Amino acid sequence: MFEKNIGFLVSGRGSNMAAILDEIASGRLAAEGRVAVCDNPGAPALALAADRGLSAVLVERKNFPRRRDFEETLVRVLKEHGVNLVILAGFMRLLGPPFLAAFPGRVINIHPSLLPAFPGLEAQRQALDHGVKIAGCTVHYVNEVMDGGPIIAQAAAAVEPDDTVESLSARILALEHRLLVQAIAGLDLEHQAI
Ligand code: GRF
Repeated sequence: MFEKNIGFLVSGRGSNMAAILDEIASGRLAAEGRVAVCDNPGAPALALAADRGLSAVLVERKNFPRRRDFEETLVRVLKEHGVNLVILAGFMRLLGPPFLAAFPGRVINIHPSLLPAFPGLEAQRQALDHGVKIAGCTVHYVNEVMDGGPIIAQAAAAVEPDDTVESLSARILALEHRLLVQAIAGLDLEHQAI
């Protein structure tokens, strides 16, 4: 079995990363967390990674003249830590060819909607504004299109009549944590789907 050596790209809270690290620590998920790379100096995810004994590395976009240089640095840090599976867990940037070519078929993202509905920011608000009755979350491979790569797994949540963005987001987030862990467990790195 191919070892899953995970590198996280994070920009914010880090609860999906924490959920994965918890499953690894408990022995329920066969994988290893290698490093968290964060582009936001104020992100709680940085401290959260460090608290759990994970290397936490800050790489800020503003320190690089071109996106290519920023992405090449992300790749270098991940490779230095032996990463072979990249999880975007609340990473708020699009990735281009320099990054994606370094980890072909090995970059996955979690998004809080049933894609292809409601890509982009504030997916839960978009779902409420649209009046959908079923919302949810999606784990997918990452390509250059925002929230656009092939779907790996989805989970659905009913929208309640009195839902707010906060209440719906919380219900979806609980699903996200489980779905992402399941999706990682099910990935076969030796026989790639894409
Ligand atoms: C999640 O809702 C995820 O689907 C989206 O960004 C949010 C990140 O939350 N891509 P967290 O940082 O994992 O708590």
